[in-house]
Amino acid sequence: MYMDNVIIDTSAITQDALGYLRDKNTDIRLFRYYADRVAFSLMQFALTEKDLVNKNIETPVGGTTIQQLQGKFVFVTILRAGLAMLPAALHIIPTAPVGFLGLKRDEETAVAQEYYRNLPSIDSDTTVILADPMLATGGSMLHTLTQIASYNPKEIRVVTVICAPEGIAKVQEKFPDSTIVTAAVDEKLNDKKYIVPGLGDFGDRYFGTE
Ligand code: PRP
Ligand code: URA
Repeated sequence: MYMDNVIIDTSAITQDALGYLRDKNTDIRLFRYYADRVAFSLMQFALTEKDLVNKNIETPVGGTTIQQLQGKFVFVTILRAGLAMLPAALHIIPTAPVGFLGLKRDEETAVAQEYYRNLPSIDSDTTVILADPMLATGGSMLHTLTQIASYNPKEIRVVTVICAPEGIAKVQEKFPDSTIVTAAVDEKLNDKKYIVPGLGDFGDRYFGTE
């Protein structure tokens, strides 16, 4: 399903995995398993036909034209929760450099503060794929997009597991051309700026904190 640069992955594998992530009775072992599964599925949607080039090869039986992924891709992971999506990302493009931005939302204000940054080279030929499972107020993603955009990459694509409408609106207001790949657009944010129904605190559930 496509709506204004938001791609919702409605595939059975993704939606089944999302159900386990949402369920508060899912333990850490299953949460990690399904987080990896949903990330792998979503990452595939971050790549499109336009990333393919034709190449002539020989099969054991004759000549043919195949399609190969080509381009300069960089993954940028927002710490901490974005780390959960990194194994899947590297499975799909094992050669891609990886950048990190450490962001933490203030518990009271939900405003994200940057505490760490380590980015690889990004230039006008680079397609940046940003990974963070939760897009809530959009503050963390907007901060990251603003930093990445200052390098003038060819394109920025966002991969996230659950979005709140508020977060999508905030990102699209400033970055209308960036694609957002997600498994779900939820109803709203609660008064603590958590996504409803959401899945709770992704980082805490994945890393076993709190
Ligand atoms: C979570 C999540 C996003 C952010 C989304 O991280 O992983 O980075 O909140 O919220 P926002 O859209 O309102 O900015 P959190 O700050 O809880 O840190 P963590 O990844 O270390 O758990
Ligand atoms: N971060 C999370 O992990 N969950 C939310 O619902 C919002 C921000």
